[in-house]
Amino acid sequence: MKLQSLRGFRDILPDEAERWQRITDAARAVAAGFGYRQIHLPMLESTELFKRSVGEATDIVEKEMFSFLDRDKTHMSLRPEGTASCVRAGIEHGLLHNQQQRFWYAGPMFRHERPQAGRYRQFHQFGIEAFGMADPACDIEVIALSAALWRALGLGGLTLEINSLGSPECRAAYRDQLRDFLRGRADALDEDARKRIETNPLRVLDSKHPDTRAAIADAPSMEAAMDDDSRAHFGAVCEGLEALGIEWKLNSNLVRGLDYYTHTVFEWTTDRLGAQGTVCAGGRYDGLVAQLGGGDVPAVGFALGIERVALLLAQDQADAAGEMPQVYLCWHGDECMTGAQQIGATLRARGLRTVVNAGGGSFKAQFKRADRSGAGWAVVLGPEELAAGTLQIKSLRARDAQRTLPTDEAVAYLQQALRDGQPNA
Ligand code: HAM
Repeated sequence: MKLQSLRGFRDILPDEAERWQRITDAARAVAAGFGYRQIHLPMLESTELFKRSVGEATDIVEKEMFSFLDRDKTHMSLRPEGTASCVRAGIEHGLLHNQQQRFWYAGPMFRHERPQAGRYRQFHQFGIEAFGMADPACDIEVIALSAALWRALGLGGLTLEINSLGSPECRAAYRDQLRDFLRGRADALDEDARKRIETNPLRVLDSKHPDTRAAIADAPSMEAAMDDDSRAHFGAVCEGLEALGIEWKLNSNLVRGLDYYTHTVFEWTTDRLGAQGTVCAGGRYDGLVAQLGGGDVPAVGFALGIERVALLLAQDQADAAGEMPQVYLCWHGDECMTGAQQIGATLRARGLRTVVNAGGGSFKAQFKRADRSGAGWAVVLGPEELAAGTLQIKSLRARDAQRTLPTDEAVAYLQQALRDGQPNA
């Protein structure tokens, strides 16, 4: 018999291992920048833990866990995710009662799924969990941390989808209402959805089956079932994200595959990875700590799939091969047009691939274009800079302070930074 790795279990060879290192280094630095500290959690836990947290009627617990009896006849499972363990550890060590905690973890998770590109049986997550903060500020923080990580990695083009499941009470009321609706439509649903009516009706909402999708097009909406406090919480999260310039898209069918969520849920998705387009996902889970025997401790978190992020970085590297612009020049005011073109020409003469903004737009809009262009640096020329003979420079990929320098120095600075191999060199 030829020996080879098990189905869905992969070797990570040096090229990919280096990309992983980049991801975990960046994630560790960004998490530390937000005050998160590392926690190491065991890979094996009692099976009961996942039944009581992820939920008995979820795909993960029903079909995907690697569970077995050890020599002492203890029921245990390889962890399919990190949140349950983190909560268990927090309760066990008395870290959660009347306290605020910010943790991160990274490591392998195990799910017996059908393997395909971007989906494996052993995969790796980087996750964060924040405990003890019920206000929308914490939902915003957690999402902002993920956005900061994409920026640090130079990953553009991800879409943030968000939704609210409301408080546990309104979620339960909505579940009953939806169940009644689905019972009336049972004949039109696919088999999987039909089974879910009694066990986990919310999951029917994110079914991909065309018959089911058609049958639930006029299902009662979660939003209508939400109480005022839940609505206010979600409104504050949306506004907070907007204020930080983080774009989001409401997806009212986003319910997540784990049972513990309440209020805000979110996913970062891409259309560049085929069917496995969710790169990072999470949300608030205010009831879980109590459910696992701790106190009434609110919590929010997310986990990203390291393999999926690594696939995107690999694609970017291939795309980048000497083609992407390095600098995007934003300018404003008619008097700056000639100056902008001249500076663009100077930068190109010095070997820097440079796009000069055209088609007008506010600085905010121009920065968005700069981000999408793939450039690593934005240069800003406004009337003030023109009068002073300076330029503003801002890194679009690293958490680097914006600086204003005399034009010649700014050009030399960019040349040096790109030569030093800073993002997108
Ligand atoms: P999840 O959505 O099950 O959430 O997984 C998070 C991420 O892990 C997914 O978005 C995906 O990128 C990656 N992932 C999941 N399954 C696989 C797989 N079979 N192969 C490759 N990558 C995969 C959780 O696990 C929650 N614990 C997230 C969380 C933390 N919520 C609150 N705190």
